[in-house]
Amino acid sequence: MELLLYSIAGIIVIVVIAVSRKSIVAGMEARSDINRENKPGDTEEGIEDITNENIEKTNEQVKIINQIDDLILIVDKFKNIKFFNNSAKKKFGENNLNKHVATLLRVPDLLQNIDLVLLKKETITMDLELSSPSFQFFKVYLFSGPTSYVDDPDSVVLFLKDLTDIIKAQRFKSDFVANVSHELKTPLVSIKGFLETISGHAKDDLEAQKKFIPIMLEQADRMESLIKDLLSLSKIELEEHIQPQDKVNLKEILNNVEDIHQKNLKPFEFKNNIKDDFFIKGDHEKLIEVFSNIIDNSIKYSDKNKKIEINCGQGNGKVIGDSYTVSIKDNGIGIPTEQIPRITERFFRVDAAKSKKVGGTGLGMAIVKHIVNQHRGELEIKSEAQSGTEIKVHFSKF
Ligand SMILES: Nc1ncnc2c1ncn2[C@@H]1O[C@H](COP(=O)(O)OP(=O)(O)O)[C@@H](O)[C@H]1O
Ligand SMILES: [Mg+2]
Repeated sequence: MELLLYSIAGIIVIVVIAVSRKSIVAGMEARSDINRENKPGDTEEGIEDITNENIEKTNEQVKIINQIDDLILIVDKFKNIKFFNNSAKKKFGENNLNKHVATLLRVPDLLQNIDLVLLKKETITMDLELSSPSFQFFKVYLFSGPTSYVDDPDSVVLFLKDLTDIIKAQRFKSDFVANVSHELKTPLVSIKGFLETISGHAKDDLEAQKKFIPIMLEQADRMESLIKDLLSLSKIELEEHIQPQDKVNLKEILNNVEDIHQKNLKPFEFKNNIKDDFFIKGDHEKLIEVFSNIIDNSIKYSDKNKKIEINCGQGNGKVIGDSYTVSIKDNGIGIPTEQIPRITERFFRVDAAKSKKVGGTGLGMAIVKHIVNQHRGELEIKSEAQSGTEIKVHFSKF
């Protein structure tokens, strides 16, 4: 079915190209006719109109080909490029006309398939995966080209459908399922092991039971936090396209979050500098989740210096229109610069052992990113290993 669709699309492309060329030729012939024999009765104006009409038509047709997102290339029998549309130009660069196709796509299977199409005049479909400069995936349809376009009667059209985003999403999904299974399996295996021990050879060993039960509880807590974070993430993902509309006060939210954490953790010193009201469009509960996760990280990843500074002020143009920026700055262990772009990936942790020790799931910052996106805000992470972290969140004003 898909193949049929693309074959039809391909035929349309061929017809459009062929017609375009014929229109140009017809236009040019019409023009030379005027010069050659201006028959009595023919007004120059009338013929001009036909010519203009042809040129307009041609422009329209070329426009259509250039509007197509898919990449279209036509090569002659020597595999030299004789035509490419705008999308192909964008992908491969401007100056590729008459170059050998292998200079752009050095893929032996593709070159072989071009030969096959030239020989058998059949449509061939193939997958094309490129790894540099970045991962790209195309479905390629190869079929005989329009003889009227290329001087040589043998030509091949390469119709490249860019499926990179779809394939990436599929791979991301299966990676995610594998990660979730692994993350849940680890504590489960450990609980099972301890249960086997205390119901087996350590059945009457009270000391062993006293030691193992708290560990099992800790592992069960870990599974519970993971499931809670996963549910939270999937709920936010479903709602990400709906921007919350309530009028909320950042001062209130940050004071609430500070209270929650103050109660639990005495050794931390919070320096909350927010005195004024800062109203934005948002969802109170979700914003509590954002700042709880950020402050929770500041606490977890600070060793000696436990001062955490909270500020809010006028934004600096990171989001459209007037904005406010919240900043949470710690003096903790920091994040190595090259790891910063990965912090919001699901299950990414700079040091997995440390994260597990402090009760992390690796999902907190992914949740933060999605909620900030839902609020049409921006997240900014500034950090350096060993010299603390500053997380800024920018929101449009109410
Ligand atoms: N304030 C911070 N200081 C140092 N490292 C941080 C900070 N915030 C986040 N990180 C790093 O980013 C990782 C991902 O954060 P997060 O998604 O909240 O997961 P976790 O559950 O491990 O806290 C953490 O494991 C940690 O390595
Ligand atoms: Mg966290």
